[in-house]
Amino acid sequence: MNLCMIGTGYVGLVSGVCFADLGNKVYCLDKNKEKIKILKSGKSPIYEPGLDELIKKNYSVGRLIFTTDLNKAISKSELIFICVGTPTKKKSQNVDLSFVYNAVKEVAKSTKKRKLIITKSTVPVGTGDELDQILKKLKSNNIDVISNPEFLREGEAIRDFRFPDRIVVGSDKKKYFKVMKKIYQPLLNKGAKFFTTSRRGAELIKYASNAFLATKITFINELANLCEQTNIDIGDIALGMGSDTRIGGRFLRAGPAYGGSCFPKDTKGLVSTGNKFKTDLTIVKSVIKSNENRKKIHTQKIKKILGSCKNKKIAFLGVTFKPNTDDMRDSTSLKMIPHLSKLGAKIKYYDPTGEKNEFKHLKNCIFEKNIKENCKDADLIILHTEWDEFKSIDFKKINKNKRLKIFDLRNLFNVNEMKSRKIEYYSIGRQSFK
Ligand SMILES: NC(=O)c1ccc[n+]([C@@H]2O[C@H](COP(=O)([O-])OP(=O)(O)OC[C@H]3O[C@@H](n4cnc5c(N)ncnc54)[C@H](O)[C@@H]3O)[C@@H](O)[C@H]2O)c1
Repeated sequence: MNLCMIGTGYVGLVSGVCFADLGNKVYCLDKNKEKIKILKSGKSPIYEPGLDELIKKNYSVGRLIFTTDLNKAISKSELIFICVGTPTKKKSQNVDLSFVYNAVKEVAKSTKKRKLIITKSTVPVGTGDELDQILKKLKSNNIDVISNPEFLREGEAIRDFRFPDRIVVGSDKKKYFKVMKKIYQPLLNKGAKFFTTSRRGAELIKYASNAFLATKITFINELANLCEQTNIDIGDIALGMGSDTRIGGRFLRAGPAYGGSCFPKDTKGLVSTGNKFKTDLTIVKSVIKSNENRKKIHTQKIKKILGSCKNKKIAFLGVTFKPNTDDMRDSTSLKMIPHLSKLGAKIKYYDPTGEKNEFKHLKNCIFEKNIKENCKDADLIILHTEWDEFKSIDFKKINKNKRLKIFDLRNLFNVNEMKSRKIEYYSIGRQSFK
């Protein structure tokens, strides 16, 4: 089939490339000319393992077309996937749907032919109904809108696309389930579940899933605080709880506040949907509050470890919100690093995905190109992101400071091993060694 992905960001690009790999011809459309230029050179503008290879493979045989030409992309495509961003509005917790509205208006203006718009972007309950109204006003009666929320995770996006737990399709017109089943059939053949519901139902499933996962993370993070006060290892609690199949062990790893491009904005989005429909979602509200507070807990802990931060050398290992992605959106480091810089700390950071624009303007904050340079003269090393290359660092080798301190936000190292090596070691929900 011929498909068009409007928006070639983390979702649109990965799903577009994967649909092409399944044998479809895919028009990847974006307004951002720079992105399209990079893609046309055969490279990926984002860091996602395995993506470069798939782009090259499918671009070279003509199954992928990267373009800024909306009219061409729409006229050639039977299915149009909306994959544009849906960030939180600046002045409220409401979802900014302007990119979605604009994309749909542009489609309507470019064609009078029969088309199906499929919303992959995460949109609040009722957005499909609003899009119907927009299309009606533009007299685009030939265009229908259905919902197909995306559940892929950055860093594992290709695997998640190919082996999804479920594919959710929401439509109030049953005929479209057939169309969607056809496009996803290769994945269904490998065991993915195909779940159909109303359009509003599909919209809510996405928010409910993300809010539930954010709740699980926040729950274990709060318990980690309790473990630190009671000398219990949070790892034991997570394992003991998670072995109960009713609970499940995933998303029970204590760490920094949850971040990234989805959980922070989607929890807020769900609360604002609740408000719109006069439903008080108290659990989700508490999760948002607890997660915000968590960022402060970490900086308070750092102040306690160092006494004063003034002129102290702090080395961050990793700054992205999780490993295997270059995405910085809502990463805890965005709160921690500026705060520590304000307190007078001298900060260096290393991340496998390179220097970040977000820190360029900060005083006393520099990017180092390798782990050793980054850590060699630090007073405190903060393990912020769980990249594989940090898991076997020999700290004594790369730092000669006899009073080196480590704050491990990901519990990557064994407390007793650190003790035996006489490294002052702090982690999450576990005993500290001073
Ligand atoms: N990032 C994830 O891990 C993830 C996972 C599941 C769902 N989602 C949801 O998917 C949606 C997209 O997220 P993302 O992270 O890929 O966003 P993104 O910001 O990486 O990409 C959005 C792209 O859309 C382009 N764009 C905006 N308006 C356009 C228009 N009218 N025409 C053409 N291009 C346009 C932008 O230039 C940008 O490249 C969001 O709703 C998000 O919540 C994201």
